[in-house]
Parts: sequence; C-alpha cells; structure tokens
Amino acid sequence: MRGLFITFEGIDGSGKSTQIGRLRDHLVDKGYKVVLTREPGGTSIGEKIRKLLLDRENSGMHPLTELFLYLASRVQHTSEFIIPHLEQGVTVISDRFHDSSVAYQGGGRGIGVEAVEKLRNFATLGLEPDITFYLDIDPTLARERMVSRMFDRLEAEKLDFYQRIRNAYNKLLRIYPNRIKLIDASGTPDDVWKRIERHIEHLWKDRRSR
Ligand code: TYD
Repeated sequence: MRGLFITFEGIDGSGKSTQIGRLRDHLVDKGYKVVLTREPGGTSIGEKIRKLLLDRENSGMHPLTELFLYLASRVQHTSEFIIPHLEQGVTVISDRFHDSSVAYQGGGRGIGVEAVEKLRNFATLGLEPDITFYLDIDPTLARERMVSRMFDRLEAEKLDFYQRIRNAYNKLLRIYPNRIKLIDASGTPDDVWKRIERHIEHLWKDRRSR
C-alpha cells in the first residue's frame, strides 16, 4: 500500500519540530516505516536553494524571486524524495509544503493567496497531503517561544508579517476543510500532542474502511 503523506504547517515558533518528532516515534512504535523531511530543502538541490532563501545577506530579494525559489525547491523535493518514498509504502512527514508558500508569500509578502494557490499543481506535481496539521498560535506567543533561538532573516520580520501569515492559513482552512486540521498550539507539548493524536487514530480507521 502507498505510504501516507502528512504535512505540518504553522508560523515560526508554533512548535512543529517537537510534534513532528512525537508523531514519528508514535508511528514507528506502531510498525510503520516513516521518513521525516522539510521545506525548503529535503534534497541536495533543495538544500542549496534553502541556503539562498535563509541567508540574511539576501534581504533585498524580490517577493516573486523568493516565491519561485520555494516552488523550485518543492518540485525537486516532490519528484526526487516524496513520491518515490510514498510509492515504496513509506509514510512521509514533511515540515511544511505548499500551504507555507500560500501563507508566507501569498499572505505575508502580499503576493495574494489566490495567486499562489494557482501555482499549487505545478509546484506539487499534483500531489496533495493526506492530512495537514496546522499548528495555530498567536504570533506574540510564538515570538516568546523563539527568543532563545538564533534569528534568521525570516524570523527577524515584524509581528504584522506573522499576523498576515496567520490570516492566510485561516483562509486555507476554509478552502481545505477536510485535509487541514486546526490544532491549538498553545499549552504544553503534551497538550498539543493529545490534540494531534486524536486525528491520527481517525486517519488509520478511515483508511482501513476504504
Ligand atoms: P525554518 O528554519 O525551517 O523554519 P521553521 O522551523 O519555522 O519551519 O525556515 C523555513 C522558513 O521558510 C520559515 O520561516 C517559513 C519559510 N517558508 C516560506 O516562506 N515559504 C515556503 O514555501 C516555505 C516552505 C517556507
């Protein structure tokens, strides 16, 4: 059977990495083969694009240049890494996918949610995640969580940038009500994990009954 494709979304500081690790451990315990990956990156070409994107010296980058670099990284990631793993029956968990471009470049950088939505099928080669966990958090709280971390170019942006991203994620929730699960990311990592785990049980049940 084809592997499941699971993605995580949310603003910086929403606690994705912790939850991704927990989900991986949970699925491995149940006997599934699982690989973790991330965007931008996930392939050697993609990691080079990632360096360009996150380099503080590139702060003069045009929003459309930025968008197309994220999309370029995604095409490579999808074709070289995600699809082959799914075909081998491996479950792929990706830290971000096309929803991030819609939220960050569409909402945050002001290119427009609809405009970036139109490019979805090109960038993903038509691949949709089976389920997406959107970890929703107030940008002020997210920033408090990040104070101890080194800030890269994107994380140094202002709060209203993150508010626009959050608004775009809310639009995506309305466009994809079945795929995207809204997860309240406030509280302890245990609290957040319990909210995610509930959906995972349903996912396997749905799959078996199909
Ligand atoms: P990363 O350090 O991986 O942040 P995080 O742990 O929050 O995912 O950096 C990825 C950054 O790239 C993050 O700020 C979100 C941004 N991004 C976009 O702006 N557009 C995209 O399409 C993707 C995939 C990421």
